[in-house]
Amino acid sequence: MLSFQFSEIHEEVRRTARSFANDKVKPTAVERDKTGEFPHEIIKELGELGFLGMMVSPEWGGSGFDAVSYVIAMEEISKVDASVGVVMSVNNSLVCWALEKYGTDAQKEKYLRPLASGQVIGAFCLSEPEAGSDATSQHTVAVRDGDDWLITGTKNWITNGTTSTYYLVLAQTDRDKGYKGISCFIVEKGMPGFTQGIKEDKLGIRSSDTCSLGFDNVRVPASNMLGEPGRGFNIAMEILNGGRIGIAAQALGIAQGAFEAALAYSKERKAFGKPIAELQAIQFKLAEMSVKIEAARLLTLKAATMKDNHERFVREAAEAKLFASKTAVEVALEAIQVHGGYGYVREYLVERFLRDAKITEIYEGTSEIQHIVIARELIRG
Ligand code: CAA
Repeated sequence: MLSFQFSEIHEEVRRTARSFANDKVKPTAVERDKTGEFPHEIIKELGELGFLGMMVSPEWGGSGFDAVSYVIAMEEISKVDASVGVVMSVNNSLVCWALEKYGTDAQKEKYLRPLASGQVIGAFCLSEPEAGSDATSQHTVAVRDGDDWLITGTKNWITNGTTSTYYLVLAQTDRDKGYKGISCFIVEKGMPGFTQGIKEDKLGIRSSDTCSLGFDNVRVPASNMLGEPGRGFNIAMEILNGGRIGIAAQALGIAQGAFEAALAYSKERKAFGKPIAELQAIQFKLAEMSVKIEAARLLTLKAATMKDNHERFVREAAEAKLFASKTAVEVALEAIQVHGGYGYVREYLVERFLRDAKITEIYEGTSEIQHIVIARELIRG
């Protein structure tokens, strides 16, 4: 039986995230969307607030919040700037989560502590030129050489690609075993043979940092393997289950931001002698947008609550991500429609929500992948 209620801690997280988003993120969001400049100072301050290792135990430098708090903070930050949201999401749900769950004490001390306390950020490197949705088709290989592994290959679409200090990298360690021969390694920026490509020029989340990475016989000590050999694919799938809650919350924030812009504009803009908010055509849109957002929020909080309760949440996370990302795109489109011609120009700022929304239907598994995950869980029973 699912039941959740916001605690005083949740409300405090919301207040903190909202004021940080408004005071520190909003003033530069439009300019960064134009220039694509990475929000270095904002990420540093987010780290100081404890928002880059939100769910990590204080023992390892984190804030010890639950997943519901994380959803609340992700929504508030992404409502103002989804580019900042995705940096936060990757560091929290992908990198820190995996290191805390699978890391040895030595790995946690060396890598998790600085990542969770926000001194540095990290990246999760699964996708390749020929392994996106079909994530088992890894071409990156790691070959054993004495006490080390030599990693060779290319990774694509890596969020925080040039700005990270530590990278979780999936590679084949035993080709004959298929996905059971994939392992996960911790790679450090600056290791010889490790190169970062040019930052991608993207449709949305433009100030986040996405690039390809090259590995040419990158020598990594065997002690940098995360988890058991051959368990890398399973670890990656588990990472993504939690990651989908973060992306659902990011999509929710984008949808809420677009809705609030449309609501405010509809009260100001006059047509036929009255504010357009008094016209039924607009009221229907506002009501429809609001209902979808609330449904997306409940699905996302449900998945987060189940995670906090240590229940299996694979289907719920995929459902939340599927529905929230669809909602973000639909609501952003309707927000443009409410603004009419003004919605189509950059000056009125609503078109950014649509550009940012689209990626939530693509990364951490496309909507098509979410359907597969949901259907498999239903059949599994
Ligand atoms: N949770 C836990 N385990 C899972 C799982 C899940 N959701 N999905 C699969 N597994 C496990 C299976 O149980 C199985 O394990 P065992 O055999 O050891 O028991 C193993 O993984 C293989 O499973 P399948 O045979 O089902 O694998 P598959 O090849 O048929 O496909 C898939 C599974 C769901 C399609 C998967 O490939 C997938 O999720 N693809 C999408 C990948 C993705 O999301 N990429 C995004 C990149 S990261 C990113 O975007 C980050 C960013 O920058 C923002």
